[in-house]
Amino acid sequence: MERTNTPIRKLLNSEKLNKEVIVKGWVRTKRGKKNVNFIALNDGSTIHNIQIVVEVDKFDPELLKAINTGASIGVKGKLVESKGKDQNVEILAQEITLYGEANPEEYPLQKKGHSLEFLREIAHLRFRTNTFGAVTRLRHAMSFAIHKYFNDNDFYYLHTPIITGSDAEGAGEMFRVTTLDLNNPPKNGDNHVDYSQDFFGKETNLTVSGQLEAELGALALSKVYTFGPTFRAENSNTPRHLAEFWMIEPEMAFYDNEDNMDLTEDFTRYLVEYALEHNYDDLEFLNKMYDNELIDRLKFVKDNTYERITYSEAIDILEKAEQRWEFPVEWGVDLQAEHEKYLVEKHFKRPVMVVDYPKDIKAFYMKQNDDGKTVRALDLLFPKIGEVVGGSQREEEYDKLYTRIKELNLPENDLWWYLETRKYGTVPHSGFGLGFERLMLFITGMYNIRDVIPFPRTPKNAEF
Ligand code: 4AD
Ligand code: MG
Repeated sequence: MERTNTPIRKLLNSEKLNKEVIVKGWVRTKRGKKNVNFIALNDGSTIHNIQIVVEVDKFDPELLKAINTGASIGVKGKLVESKGKDQNVEILAQEITLYGEANPEEYPLQKKGHSLEFLREIAHLRFRTNTFGAVTRLRHAMSFAIHKYFNDNDFYYLHTPIITGSDAEGAGEMFRVTTLDLNNPPKNGDNHVDYSQDFFGKETNLTVSGQLEAELGALALSKVYTFGPTFRAENSNTPRHLAEFWMIEPEMAFYDNEDNMDLTEDFTRYLVEYALEHNYDDLEFLNKMYDNELIDRLKFVKDNTYERITYSEAIDILEKAEQRWEFPVEWGVDLQAEHEKYLVEKHFKRPVMVVDYPKDIKAFYMKQNDDGKTVRALDLLFPKIGEVVGGSQREEEYDKLYTRIKELNLPENDLWWYLETRKYGTVPHSGFGLGFERLMLFITGMYNIRDVIPFPRTPKNAEF
């Protein structure tokens, strides 16, 4: 059959009836009557199926027998108004090509309503479900909207390296990259592994963040952003953590942390608006199936401003809250999920941006405040998810940055190039990192981060 098939999404919205069309896709269901069969066909272009009406006596019975749930077919036929109540249009089949059968005894997606856990075990087939179709289309839409937003706002897309020699977050949660023979590595005089004989002549890892390199770009191109995979070997088996996740990191010269907050708010609201405007069908499906407050929550974020508070104010609120904490609250502790949830869902009932965290719980590069205790950090907390954005103004003063690196015993040798930008034409600058899968949790209403990325990487899990 010719390749000129039309996406089902377009046909369902088409008003050009009684024309010959071609569709190709995968059979969701086939209902049979004696004289007519009804095939629900989906090609991934929309959550909705198109109905194919098949007059049984016009086709080879063997062909029709092979058209089962999961089979792939092409149909040439006439697009007509539907007599059924579930759809406006349908296709009267004139010619059918069977591309691939799916044995009904074996194909695992026979019925509807499989558990998400089961679908994770068949990640190679779960794209064929309504849920993963919707999530995948939304992931695409959000990726596109992210590039569009930055392009429209004079940012340049910067490709930062996946393999790095530095630990951007200084947290030591890195996956090593090596070609050494792990069973028999070369050793130096101290009986330590001799990385000078490794592929890059030094220790290298998968990046945890593109920020440090993005800063180099911003200090020349003014506004840049990265959008790429990042890797963290933290052993967090939670519904919010992946070992491989995608991060969007804008970095802006001449921005202070106030400007940074304005951008964080405008950018994330734009993405929510984009999804509501362009992917409503998929959101409606997810709202019905998984989270019946999803659309209301997205509309709320679209229509309301975010709260802005300091860490110290947050601690104050939490200390006064009539609530038992699993993790006790006092000035200096990091905010845990339960605290973030309280601030966002109970106290403010809206997204919250928290700034000025204690310097001891944040990364070395953050701009130090004059109080000597806090840094100009910025976290954005969203309902249901908690932290979706982490960012800060950066320390642009050479001496302060150098002293902090020394205090924390970070390897100065790996950061010399970063320090040099503070020697030559340094400027105040800021940026943040949006966790793409955390954003996707918010946009889709899904609960587990494993269900918003096609092939999740988590501890003890890298099958597909
Ligand atoms: O707060 P983080 O660690 O900040 C940075 O990496 C900075 N370098 C960003 C910057 O300023 N350019 O991570 C940023 C975001 C978090 O807010 C969270 O949304 C997400 O990345 N994130 C994860 N998402 C999934 N799985 C994990 N293990 C994550 N760790 C962080
Ligand atoms: Mg963070």
